[in-house]
Amino acid sequence: MKYELVIVLDFGGQYNQLIARRVRDLNVYCEVMSYKTPISEIKEKKPVGIIFTGGPNSVYLDASPTITKEIFDLDIPILGICYGSQLMAHILGGKVAPAEKSEYGKTLVSFDKTSLMFGDIPEKSIAWMSHTDRIERVPDGFRITAHTDACPVAAMENPEKKLYAVQFHPEVQHTEYGSAILRSFLYNVCKTKGDWSMKNYAETAVNDVRRKVGDGKVLLALSGGVDSSVLAALLSKAVGNRLTCIFVDHGLLRKNEGDEVEAAFKDRDLNFVRVDASERFLSKLKDITDPESKRKIIGEEFIRVFEDEAKKIGKVDYFAQGTIYPDVIESGSGDAAVIKSHHNVGGLPDYVDFKEIIEPLRLLFKDEVRRLGEELGLPDYLVWRQPFPGPGLAIRIIGDITEEKIHILQDADYIFREEIAKAGLDRTINQYFAVLTSMRSVGVMGDFRTYDYTLALRAVTTTDFMTADFARIPYDVLSTVSARIVNEVSGINRITYDITTKPPSTIEWE
Ligand code: XMP
Repeated sequence: MKYELVIVLDFGGQYNQLIARRVRDLNVYCEVMSYKTPISEIKEKKPVGIIFTGGPNSVYLDASPTITKEIFDLDIPILGICYGSQLMAHILGGKVAPAEKSEYGKTLVSFDKTSLMFGDIPEKSIAWMSHTDRIERVPDGFRITAHTDACPVAAMENPEKKLYAVQFHPEVQHTEYGSAILRSFLYNVCKTKGDWSMKNYAETAVNDVRRKVGDGKVLLALSGGVDSSVLAALLSKAVGNRLTCIFVDHGLLRKNEGDEVEAAFKDRDLNFVRVDASERFLSKLKDITDPESKRKIIGEEFIRVFEDEAKKIGKVDYFAQGTIYPDVIESGSGDAAVIKSHHNVGGLPDYVDFKEIIEPLRLLFKDEVRRLGEELGLPDYLVWRQPFPGPGLAIRIIGDITEEKIHILQDADYIFREEIAKAGLDRTINQYFAVLTSMRSVGVMGDFRTYDYTLALRAVTTTDFMTADFARIPYDVLSTVSARIVNEVSGINRITYDITTKPPSTIEWE
């Protein structure tokens, strides 16, 4: 690894990857590793800094995740966050105990500005707290550098040993100066040069793929979405025409999308194959109403189509997927609960007829993927395309799927997208689409009673797609959309706008 590295040691907290993302945003390369990683491996990697994450346990219980004391003697700067800060205190001889009152949420913190960590921020500001234990006594050699009303040690440090700890979460957006605090740790304490960027990531990823693939052939599922498009650009740069992109038209794409994707890729430096498999998919999906079953069927059928195509191409060694980080955590890897099995992770059948799956975007968040796409010279209209789920309109038609419903939804969705773009909202709203609820209600059209479908409009703003807010679309725009859809699309007589956030809802309806 040519770049300076910061290791995020994962003690099981929910914001672990978020810490990594913030560090990378500050131009420092960062990897998340388990707290169980042997110390020899950590030393070998020669990190310029280590960050201990939060975690749900209590450091003083025997079964809780811990780490060898030796790590504090490596002369590598360490920042402990939440559980990580308590662990540092506990191992080095301080005292951690349950607080009288747990602190949760936005909290006013007073900082000692003489600390290298807090010199660049105001003396008082809001930070995000989430803890029931607290540090009661700091270890020898440490001093307290921040406190709140309920928490006497909101930060502590031993600058001589380059050990720093914060009880709050600098990585979450609710902490007003969180990014500045992380910056201080990276640049003032670790003295990093900041040599990490998407340009560098692109180079590393291209080299990694080259090394791994050798002179083998790669097959990619190209959906035309941001992730698979960026991946296609990355892979074609790495292996040129040993990459074949198979674009499966499963008949559940948005209106005109098949032709658009074909137009965007067929003249590029890669083998582009478009497969019209809509009949195959629709017959498998007939009468299927359960969302997870739809995902599994589509995921499985994707693989079967690829196997068939791969046979035509000859020997294919690698199957590439545009899996990104939010897909991974919400699919129940590690300890996170299964919310939806995204087809490109959870829905894979046990038997896959390829040597290996490669997923070069697996560590990236959506916004990082877009930056990578720009770095790789992809046109704006591809890089800024809103995300579209692999199972497509199958999970936007509630209940059973018919060709008639697909057409209705395609036409309605097209109008919605057109009006959002006309209103100039397409860059500020991160995802917007129509959902066919399959519920019917009574309406009146001219002199006739109708009994047609209710359509739902969904539009959200989000940075990471793990949480989202509904977009505040002006009523005038909604009104135009509504009038156009009921007039131009037969089969719909009622339109609703989804005003729930995620959580408790999800972005898609299924
Ligand atoms: P949810 O509905 O889980 O969506 O809030 C979060 C993001 O993931 C997309 N999504 C999927 N993408 N296969 C995918 O490739 C899927 O099965 C799937 N389900 C949801 C969704 O469009 C949103 O961007």
